[in-house]
Amino acid sequence: MRSPRNLSLSEIQTLLKGMVPDIEVPFIYDTVEKINALKKSKNAVVLGHNYMEPAVYHLAADIRGDSLELCRAAAKTDAEIIVFCGVEFMAETAKILNPQKKVLVPSDKAGCSLAGSITGADVRALKERFPGVPVVCYINTYAEVKAECDICCTSGNAEHIISSLKSDTIIFVPDEYLAGNVARSTGKHIIVPKRVGGTVDVRQLSGDYEIVSWPGKCEVHEQFTVADIEQARSQYPDIAVLAHPECSPEVVAASDFSGSTSAMIKYVRENKKAHFLCLTECAMGDNIAIDNPDKELVRLCSVRCPHMKTITLKDTLNALVYERYEVMVPEEIRLKALRCINNMLNFS
Ligand code: 13P
Ligand code: SF4
Repeated sequence: MRSPRNLSLSEIQTLLKGMVPDIEVPFIYDTVEKINALKKSKNAVVLGHNYMEPAVYHLAADIRGDSLELCRAAAKTDAEIIVFCGVEFMAETAKILNPQKKVLVPSDKAGCSLAGSITGADVRALKERFPGVPVVCYINTYAEVKAECDICCTSGNAEHIISSLKSDTIIFVPDEYLAGNVARSTGKHIIVPKRVGGTVDVRQLSGDYEIVSWPGKCEVHEQFTVADIEQARSQYPDIAVLAHPECSPEVVAASDFSGSTSAMIKYVRENKKAHFLCLTECAMGDNIAIDNPDKELVRLCSVRCPHMKTITLKDTLNALVYERYEVMVPEEIRLKALRCINNMLNFS
């Protein structure tokens, strides 16, 4: 989705009303002016994930979206510099697709608990235990993991990709909740190895399974509970509850809708209800509220993504000024990971 840009100071004040104090608006206006000038002079594009804080999302990002939409945008751009306002694995994906371009991520602390939960060696161990079984990885993984997998997926196409693979069994890593949600909706059995003292031993895995997953979780979405939903429903009987598929299968089952971050945005835009609870990173509630002033977004803002939160408007400017922090992927790994990403892009 294209974002509004080049707004006047008073237009920015109106847009961000209630989200940032008025006193900050001149600073935001000045920073956005500098960002826009640098984008032009350096032929740069800013991609912004739906979780970015309102000033970055509404004023700095040229293209906004979920992981799949930004992956597609990265594959198409003709800009020389890509500033990825999202976490490192997302910027890495953009670099894998654009080896000749400079890809920058505005913070050097933008990790992800899912991406950090599994290594390339872990995938090799799974392939040894289940030889010949196709391996699907969530896009929330680093390049060395994608390099070991056949195809990747996002929250927007996981179910479609898994159910289209012609195999009795599938390895799907690293999010045990996303895998559990796909298993639930496709009627497949899932097994997940246990993590004991930091190690996962896949050699003992056995039982009734069609999906073999991995004990990885999103540190944000794992915190939402069915009790949160019940409390919201008792306070607002008409509320629509939306859960990202990284939430537990119990939470997804108790919700009215589950989908990628962009699917959640679309649901709120197109649904006539007055109250919505989005069980996902809180900043997205702010962004949706700005675009839908007639709807109330009930937010659980004590649950935040500590990684996405490290990216600010000032960092975005500094990324353009100092051309930092540049993302690099060794060529041998990039080529293997590219095959895995392209298999998804060609699939969708
Ligand atoms: P989406 O692909 O739905 O934007 O999700 C990315 C993510 O990291 C959610 O936590
Ligand atoms: Fe990773 Fe969870 Fe943050 Fe998304 S919300 S980037 S899955 S830690």
